[in-house]
Amino acid sequence: MPTRILFVCLGNICRSPAAEGVFRALCPEVETDSAGTASYHVGEPPYGPMQAAARARGLDISDLRARQFRRGDFEAFDLIIAMDASNLEDIEALRPSGSETPVHLFTGYAPETGADHVPDPYYTRDFDGCLDLIEAAARGLKTAL
Ligand code: 4NP
Repeated sequence: MPTRILFVCLGNICRSPAAEGVFRALCPEVETDSAGTASYHVGEPPYGPMQAAARARGLDISDLRARQFRRGDFEAFDLIIAMDASNLEDIEALRPSGSETPVHLFTGYAPETGADHVPDPYYTRDFDGCLDLIEAAARGLKTAL
């Protein structure tokens, strides 16, 4: 059973902190973190509208701070979860030789939704739809562990 799971998106202020917040509430015994493939928002808390949408569901993600994904994460975590194919490609580009840490798309855990990625609400502005998808994938991930 993976005991350390890292959620990764682009900016680490919308999708991956929301995924971390949802999953840590669902599965507190698993160590979680999140990161972004880009460095734009390093040190920032989750984006205000994402925090508000999460808070409306009883989830406080205000303690989280953005950081950039790094090569060492392949060793520090047992499972890495990407929000979209671009994140997955950027993560794989940093894989150290010999590392076998699995990197999976989050939507793979929610086949019933038909989604092949978690759309970025920073652009779509659909924070609730994003959380619906994240909650479905988080339930699927918990079941798969
Ligand atoms: P995220 O959304 O990857 O879900 O955190 C984004 C937030 C900010 C930017 C891109 C994606 N940005 O370019 O500033």
